[in-house]
Amino acid sequence: MEDQKCRLSPTTWTIFILNLICILSNSPADGAIAGADTSSSLSTYVIQVRKPTDKYLATIEDLDTFYRSFLPTTTAGSNQEQRMVHSYRHVLSGFAAKLTAEEAKAIGEKDGVLDVRPETVLSLHTTHTPNYLGLRQGVGLWEDSNYGKGVIIGMLDTGIFPNHLSFSDEGVPPPPAKWKGRCNFNRTSCNNKLIGARSFTDSSSSAAPYDDLGHGTHTASTAAGAFVKDANVFGLVNGTAVGIAPLAHLAVYKICTGDGCYDSAVLAGFDAAIEDGVDVLSVSFGYRVPAQFPSDPIAMGAFAATRKGIFVSCSAGNNGPSSNTLTNGAPWVLTVGASSTDRTIKATARLGNGQEFDGETLYQPRDFEPAQHPLVYPEGPGDDAPGKVNVLDTDSKYNRVQQGQAVKDAGGVAVILVNDPATGYTTFADPHVLPATHVSYVAGTEIKKYIKTASAPTAAILFKGTQFNGSFAPAVAYFSSRGPSSISPGILKPDIIGPGLNILAGWISPIDNSKDKKRAFNVISGTSMSCPHLSGVVALLKSSHPDWSPAAIKSAILTTAATNNAKGQPIVDEARGPGNIFATGAGHVNVSKAVDPGLIYDTELTDYVPYLCGLNYSDKDVSLIVQKQVSCSSIESIPDYQLNYPSITVNFERLGSNVSVKRTVRNVGPANSRYKSVIEPITGIGSIDVSPRELVFTNANETISYTINFTRKASPQVVNAQGAITWVSAQHSVRTAVAVLFKGSGGL
Ligand SMILES: *[C@@H]1O[C@H](CO)[C@@H](O)[C@H](O)[C@H]1NC(C)=O
Ligand SMILES: *[C@@H]1O[C@H](CO)[C@@H](O)[C@H](O)[C@H]1NC(C)=O
Ligand SMILES: *[C@@H]1O[C@H](CO)[C@@H](O)[C@H](O)[C@H]1NC(C)=O
Ligand SMILES: *[C@@H]1O[C@H](CO)[C@@H](O)[C@H](O)[C@H]1NC(C)=O
Ligand SMILES: *[C@@H]1O[C@H](CO)[C@@H](O)[C@H](O)[C@H]1NC(C)=O
Ligand SMILES: *[C@@H]1O[C@H](CO)[C@@H](O)[C@H](O)[C@H]1NC(C)=O
Ligand SMILES: *[C@@H]1O[C@H](CO)[C@@H](O)[C@H](O)[C@H]1NC(C)=O
Ligand SMILES: *[C@@H]1O[C@H](CO)[C@@H](O)[C@H](O)[C@H]1NC(C)=O
Repeated sequence: MEDQKCRLSPTTWTIFILNLICILSNSPADGAIAGADTSSSLSTYVIQVRKPTDKYLATIEDLDTFYRSFLPTTTAGSNQEQRMVHSYRHVLSGFAAKLTAEEAKAIGEKDGVLDVRPETVLSLHTTHTPNYLGLRQGVGLWEDSNYGKGVIIGMLDTGIFPNHLSFSDEGVPPPPAKWKGRCNFNRTSCNNKLIGARSFTDSSSSAAPYDDLGHGTHTASTAAGAFVKDANVFGLVNGTAVGIAPLAHLAVYKICTGDGCYDSAVLAGFDAAIEDGVDVLSVSFGYRVPAQFPSDPIAMGAFAATRKGIFVSCSAGNNGPSSNTLTNGAPWVLTVGASSTDRTIKATARLGNGQEFDGETLYQPRDFEPAQHPLVYPEGPGDDAPGKVNVLDTDSKYNRVQQGQAVKDAGGVAVILVNDPATGYTTFADPHVLPATHVSYVAGTEIKKYIKTASAPTAAILFKGTQFNGSFAPAVAYFSSRGPSSISPGILKPDIIGPGLNILAGWISPIDNSKDKKRAFNVISGTSMSCPHLSGVVALLKSSHPDWSPAAIKSAILTTAATNNAKGQPIVDEARGPGNIFATGAGHVNVSKAVDPGLIYDTELTDYVPYLCGLNYSDKDVSLIVQKQVSCSSIESIPDYQLNYPSITVNFERLGSNVSVKRTVRNVGPANSRYKSVIEPITGIGSIDVSPRELVFTNANETISYTINFTRKASPQVVNAQGAITWVSAQHSVRTAVAVLFKGSGGL
């Protein structure tokens, strides 16, 4: 959630929890091999074996026996029970087991064993938002989609606090007949809202998935929380909190703890969710460094889910604003970046000279007088605090609340936290322990200039509470990871941005002085928060269009996305410059438009095979992902940009000066529809030719293909550029975002 190295020093409970979140997002073990050592100690390995063809291996018990036959004989008997960690049925053909390095090596040499890997660790990418997304009670999409009724959203996360009011099942019907899952909480905790709850982080398979961190409770209530009146923190952001799909069901799979998310558990969570019959999976974690698809449990698990028609929505990661930082970029998932909303929790710094700078804080004590106090910019937190307002640079060594704590401990009056250039205008509403405001880099520069030049600088903090209609929203948050995807640069990622900055949702315990755990809320940030917003949107679309494939739903979301902000200007980034397409993807989700897109780009499951071969993966790797025998030399592979994706990336780094891209669209609007192409010019591109220029449909579900040729200028003068081709009919506008990479743009 924060791009900071955080230390664990539980000065207050609040800080303790914040630190835990920081650590989860910054574990030095991210993407590293977790356990494998060469001694005789046991580590967990994920083992993939050739799929058994015998029919009698159809039941999970038979599979288990088959998998156990690969374990070394020295571990036979009761000992074997403890060695076997998970048996997989859907995500891959294989199992996870505790082994010594020698045993793992020996298994790797056995006939029928395809792959043996030591377990790795992934990390978490850590309500007003429904209104902000245009959802209103009694009208529009909420009404049309029945608030997500009948759809099951699976949450792969840290578990859940089941008794929170957000998980009340008022008005939620019983789960659909296809539901096969189980709930390991007791009967009072599970209900028609929370229909499934299992843990894969405990040694017992019947353990209840209690959320010790808050992350899973926050994401679940964001996706499908019930209406909770008077939700607030410290009396701020008061209103009715509600998830995006308030009548959808939730199935919780706990696969992350304070130690991170082990891939053996991640795969087990995917496996169970697929078996249970969820419709949507929400994935707010990932590797810190992008992993190749065959060694990425999210890419593997999501492919198996997609095969069953399950939609997988993933966080893009919190490693922005540098380019190539994006994770979870497989084309069969939706990759979600994070943006601000039009709500701020405002606190203004007023300087002695009358200048005012707006910032944010979640802690706004009513009894704090907006009086002027001496203003200093000390070396470090607490160095020159007593009786003064301290200006502090947000520092990667501390989290922001801790910085304030140090000033408070030293007798300081207040803190003005100042961003560095990279963080720009992204400010956080944190639960500070003293009067504070977090301001932008630009504001900070002005404040420091004043301190240098004034003879006796002073400042006051004015609390302004919750404010709406912020005009720069939605702006990309600095931490939101950026493309191009280093694994598959020909697929535009992130796909979309959604609310992920200062998001209010359910929590496991009050962070203010309130007593009622059941109505605890917290405001946190990350692509972890934007992902469940989109998971909820997908549930609404799935409810309206039960027959649409995951790729069709993704297409509807992408081709109807907004590219302008509240001011009607192009969406900006953390620096308030125009948002690069590798930060915004297709743009900001517009829920009411997505339900009726007119045309969709569908991607068939079989299309991913030539795509994966085109990425030059080995036959073995492609076979492991798609779970069937593939020989790339016997099929016609395609370059990644030719996958029938709802956005287009033209990569002149790899191709010559002319690129021809083919796409196929399906008519999901009126049977008789005529679309004309409208092309936005693109910097550095000499000509864009589309054929045919008009798409004339006479039937529902009819498909038509078109080609679009791009010719680059001799010297494009830019490293990357963006535009779009939009198919426009009387009722619909189908915008297909186009990203262009020129030579040397790998690093943007
Ligand atoms: C069920 O769980 C809730 C919350 O953890 C607890 O308060 C209640 O006592 C439990 N009931 C039973 C019958 O165990
Ligand atoms: C929140 O708003 C409701 C009604 O809008 C009001 O009754 C309640 O007192 C408010 N709570 C706080 C803490 O401001
Ligand atoms: C935001 O502005 C719109 C009009 O621009 C207005 O209708 C709405 O009430 C405002 N919302 C708030 C919370 O101030
Ligand atoms: C979404 O699209 C609708 C219909 O064009 C428009 O009225 C609305 O303002 C858009 N909402 C957002 C949040 O962009
Ligand atoms: C795959 O290999 C071929 C032949 O070596 C090469 O032309 C192509 O650029 C490679 N593709 C990728 C995505 O690396
Ligand atoms: C690229 O296309 C342009 C016109 O569209 C043409 O003049 C040129 O010869 C083409 N270049 C190559 C290498 O095909
Ligand atoms: C696009 O390029 C392809 C291959 O170079 C060519 O066959 C086709 O005619 C071109 N189409 C247009 C509209 O220029
Ligand atoms: C269009 O296709 C969908 C699913 O493939 C099907 O349910 C629907 O009936 C079709 N509509 C028409 C008019 O053929």
